[in-house]
Amino acid sequence: MQSSPDIEILLNGEAETLELGARLASLLRAGDCVALYGDLGAGKTTLSRGLIQAMDTAIEEIPSPTYTIVQTYEIEPCAVWHFDLYRIDNPMELVELGFDDALNDISLIEWPENAGSLLPENRLSVRLAFSGDVRKACLSGGTAEWIDRLNDHFRKN
Ligand SMILES: Nc1ncnc2c1ncn2[C@@H]1O[C@H](COP(=O)(O)OP(=O)(O)O)[C@@H](O)[C@H]1O
Ligand SMILES: [Mg+2]
Repeated sequence: MQSSPDIEILLNGEAETLELGARLASLLRAGDCVALYGDLGAGKTTLSRGLIQAMDTAIEEIPSPTYTIVQTYEIEPCAVWHFDLYRIDNPMELVELGFDDALNDISLIEWPENAGSLLPENRLSVRLAFSGDVRKACLSGGTAEWIDRLNDHFRKN
């Protein structure tokens, strides 16, 4: 399959950010890492909420992990680890938080820049940005495998 430019999606309101999260949920499996880039308030936590809720509708509260750094959701068949690395100074702090285990499950990472070299190359990157009155999401795959999966999911239907 040909390589492709990034996939851009306009997010017109919070509901559409939640919906994109739900759409991504259907793509994910054990071992996947989603890096959520974007400024404060861009919608990283909102997208994570939509994603986690779509995986398990019984989960009612999905707090921002700003203070706890990580929240873990024991979802079947695969746990989801939701990180916010804003307050991480040294990537090595992640080792104590179980980052290796997280990468075997499904990991959602806000402020992935702070993971340094621990951030896997085989990841889906989601860049959220303000674009006039709306928000914009830009999806890109870090590897050929992810690029194929994005093409399959977003360009064929
Ligand atoms: N597409 C959107 N349009 C307008 N507001 C949005 C959109 N997506 C999310 N929001 C709102 O933006 C605010 C900040 O979102 P949040 O997900 O906490 O950002 P971040 O985690 O990137 O700091 C929330 O009040 C949320 O409801
Ligand atoms: Mg956040």
